[in-house]
Amino acid sequence: MSKIGIFYGSASGVTQSVAMKIRKRLGQDICDLYNMEEDFDDVDDMLKYDFLLFGCSTWGAGEVQSDWRDPLFEMSVDKPDFSGKTIALFGAGDCVDHGEHFVSALGTLYDDFTKYGATLVGAIPTDGYTYKNSFAERDGTLVGLAFDEVNESGKTQGRLDTWIEVIRAHFPSAEGEAQTEAA
Ligand SMILES: Cc1cc2nc3c(=O)[nH]c(=O)nc-3n(C[C@H](O)[C@H](O)[C@H](O)COP(=O)(O)O)c2cc1C
Repeated sequence: MSKIGIFYGSASGVTQSVAMKIRKRLGQDICDLYNMEEDFDDVDDMLKYDFLLFGCSTWGAGEVQSDWRDPLFEMSVDKPDFSGKTIALFGAGDCVDHGEHFVSALGTLYDDFTKYGATLVGAIPTDGYTYKNSFAERDGTLVGLAFDEVNESGKTQGRLDTWIEVIRAHFPSAEGEAQTEAA
């Protein structure tokens, strides 16, 4: 069975926690987890997989979490080929104090990886979200799973459940493993 590579950058552990839940839900055995800070060497780590999940919180004013900066720069030079690869995105943000740039890092990842040929799945309706502006909003959807543990922690589990069902249709899944277990 094809494996899924989950690559995430997380400064205070919020996106990391969701990355671990996603892995549990899709199947521990078929998901390899990479912390961009500790486990990522170069883009070849990603190109081993046909199915990829990228997690990134937003910092600064709409910028990617710092562990993503160098990898994205290196990719802009190397222009890797992600054609034929299916990707989905997730990341933490703050829709109140940073509502002008809510989860905007996901928009940056979307632009970069689709530019390199990847196919995105797992965009979600903006219904239920409140923010002023987001670079991750495209055509009335957010390009990935957005969650806000600062202001809306009670919504994260439901948002994750809904999103997992959306991406499950496009990603390999370990039958029977933790399918119904609360994350
Ligand atoms: C200095 C600072 C800047 C931030 N900038 C943004 C931002 O531009 N957009 C956003 O949605 N959230 C922003 N946030 C909120 C973080 O994304 C949020 O705290 C998130 O939970 C961090 O997730 P992590 O632990 O996975 O890195 C910012 C937080 C801080 C402290």
